[in-house]
Amino acid sequence: MLGIVILAAGLGKRMHSDEPKVLAEVGGEPMIFPILRCVKETTPNASIAVVIGHERERVQKTISQHGEWKDLDLHFVVQPTQRGTGDAASSAMESEWGETRIQKREPVLVLPGDLPLITPELIRQMVEPLGRSHVMRLLTSHMDDPTGYGRVVRRGKKGALLRIVEEKDANLREKLIQEVATSIYFFQSPFLKQSLRGLTNKNAQGEFYLTDVLAKAVSHKKKIEVLEWRVCEDLMGINTTWDLAQAESTLNQRLVKKWALQGVRFLDPQSVWIQPSVQLSRGVVVEPCVQLKGNTVIAERVRLKMGTVVESSKVGADSTLGPYAHLRPESVVGKHVKIGNFVELKKAVIDDHTSVAHLSYLGDATVGKNVNIGCGFVTCNYDGRVKDGQRKHRTTIEDDVFIGSDCQVIAPIKICKRAYIASGSTVTQDVESDALAIARARQTTKPGYAKKFRTS
Ligand code: UD1
Ligand code: CA
Repeated sequence: MLGIVILAAGLGKRMHSDEPKVLAEVGGEPMIFPILRCVKETTPNASIAVVIGHERERVQKTISQHGEWKDLDLHFVVQPTQRGTGDAASSAMESEWGETRIQKREPVLVLPGDLPLITPELIRQMVEPLGRSHVMRLLTSHMDDPTGYGRVVRRGKKGALLRIVEEKDANLREKLIQEVATSIYFFQSPFLKQSLRGLTNKNAQGEFYLTDVLAKAVSHKKKIEVLEWRVCEDLMGINTTWDLAQAESTLNQRLVKKWALQGVRFLDPQSVWIQPSVQLSRGVVVEPCVQLKGNTVIAERVRLKMGTVVESSKVGADSTLGPYAHLRPESVVGKHVKIGNFVELKKAVIDDHTSVAHLSYLGDATVGKNVNIGCGFVTCNYDGRVKDGQRKHRTTIEDDVFIGSDCQVIAPIKICKRAYIASGSTVTQDVESDALAIARARQTTKPGYAKKFRTS
């Protein structure tokens, strides 16, 4: 069986945060999730050990509570003190997991928990069977700016591998090397176990480096394969919040490109934010500064105008949102719907051919077909009570209703088919089908009074 060790015990000191690094979010989810997703897609039957340490309960809970990983053979192994990547790998290999799951010569893939941009293709190539006499496969990449990464030191014309030197231990010449170690390795397990036992911490950081395993293989004249990965952005390690920001931006541009190649039109691809869980369709047009988050699904030919934000909501074909519309979670918009500027929906279901064109809030509402909602409509859904669970109330508006401008409805309330609500009404009671409701003070006009005001 294939074993996978994911190193996720580190403190993440350089992040200057109390949150464990592997839980810092990229694309709206903890950075360890895209790594687990690549593993699930490529090697669903592998036995996985996640090495945890710093804030281990929190890391374990976050991972194990997420349903997506329930079919994986996932184990948690504790590294009691964070003494380096080599020590983390040995915590896994020496654990009960290592003893029971990795008994013979099974290969072991090691992945760090801070490389959220890795791809399934990369894992697929890393876990190809090793050559008969090879003890490990090393993944390297050439970086224009290798600062912070371990450098791969080679010798002679043929460039035979020698060792990996960490930035903090490197001399000036070594720092010029652009071939870097990525912390991704594929090992023959007896070799890994044996060489981990021989590691020392005589280096600038006083840590047990997993990278030193390469020098062990070299000194024992073992055969090593190198996989050189061309797309270096896939291998970006997250050590600081600046790295995190860059990873976020790279991931985002990857997603924008993916959807563009499937027929989505982006007017300003740099300013749009899309999370990995979002689904778009052909013919969708996305204007500048649009954010699409969570489990959002946008159907064909929808136009998302400037500044629109959609969170975990569904939008049907040929509808238009924005500019500056905000769909909060669990909203469902039908086909040919118009949601105009400064309109906020929350848990609102809006059926086909309905229009909510300007400055409105619809929360906990169900709106039928062909409804016209004027400017400045508010569903008053919150009663301010804290005690019972009944703080939010529903509004139902049936098909073909017309609501004039500047109206409020006090929920719970139902406006039945074809009813008409006069502008400026605050409606507190249900309105029956075909009725007209007016709920506003009658106007009095006092002739000449304006003049009097001005002169007094
Ligand atoms: C490591 C490599 C470096 C490589 C870089 C690629 C070593 C010594 N260095 O450096 O050569 O270029 O990754 O991104 O391996 N961790 C533990 N326990 C520990 C220490 C770390 O589980 O005691 C985990 C961290 O949570 C992290 C991973 O190991 O997920 C890598 O650790 P990190 O400190 O980020 O290593 P780098 O300095 O980036
Ligand atoms: Ca790192």
